Amino acid sequence: MTSPRGGDAVARAKRAAALGALDAFVRPGMRLGLGSGSTAALFIEALGARVAAGLDVSCAATSAASAALAERVGVALFSLESLAPLDLTVDGADEVDSEFRAIKGGGGCHLREKEAARCSARVVLAVDESKLVARLGRFPLPLEVAPRDFAATAERLRGVFDGSGFGGAALERRARADGSPFITDGGNFILDAALGAVSDPAALAARLDGVEGLLAHGFFIDEADALVVGYETGEHRLLLRDNRDNKSVRDDGDNKGVRGNNKGVRDDGDNEGARGRQSVRNVGDNKGVGDDEGARGRQSVREGRGDRDNEGARVSEVAAGAN
Ligand code: 5RP
Repeated sequence: MTSPRGGDAVARAKRAAALGALDAFVRPGMRLGLGSGSTAALFIEALGARVAAGLDVSCAATSAASAALAERVGVALFSLESLAPLDLTVDGADEVDSEFRAIKGGGGCHLREKEAARCSARVVLAVDESKLVARLGRFPLPLEVAPRDFAATAERLRGVFDGSGFGGAALERRARADGSPFITDGGNFILDAALGAVSDPAALAARLDGVEGLLAHGFFIDEADALVVGYETGEHRLLLRDNRDNKSVRDDGDNKGVRGNNKGVRDDGDNEGARGRQSVRNVGDNKGVGDDEGARGRQSVREGRGDRDNEGARVSEVAAGAN
């Protein structure tokens, strides 16, 4: 029997997040970035059902696995370079904090995911509730490094961590189950840095940005415009960043979260977090994949690509029981 918090429950939560993102944000005619990982895969599968029902979108994938899945479910694929700029990228994450900062790269795809995010007018992270943390860092930070520079880059990274208060952090090359090195789609290695709670991820990300030989780190500090959080009940919630400049998020007094009030972001890196200042809205269940609503759903979500500097995520109305 699967425990209430076991694989089935997590899969249900991921599915709720993926379908919530599809309903709330995808519109006909969009150029979409397809993220990577199991939540993104659920999004791609559901998108394929919408495409089969007549939705017209053009997509670029952030990994070979997502591209293969998209092809299998009939989603029109283009290279990121030919499709950019994108209207929207929907991706998963390994951790997200209450300021929409994330760690990604659990699948080793964060280099391409970052490229897609950075040429997207809007980036939505779809996550199950276990991904919400008070502080980033419980998940080891993925670092993509070219094999030829591996040893020297690892030394430089260690220097940055030593000089940033993470002196004892383990830095391990990711391996496959058989012990051979994990190789990314781009032919590179991944180092995973076990940092523990990171009090200033933006500062550490900025230091990592300057490390010669590091192709991509897994911090996504400013990329996400919205979160869709899925719960094991099958419900999902949208958390929307209101202002790109100061990263504040709209508080419309509806922050009761899934378990009572929103005061209790635990400070130990656990998964109770992300209740702080976000606007939390229940958009209901997710039965609408492939229905004749296409991707329009019934939510009122402001469309348009906007200016990433001040776009915010303005949901003027999001109805309960939207599907
Ligand atoms: C891949 C990623 C994934 O989005 C992240 O690992 C989350 O994966 P999942 O949805 O399977 O939990 O960043 O590089």
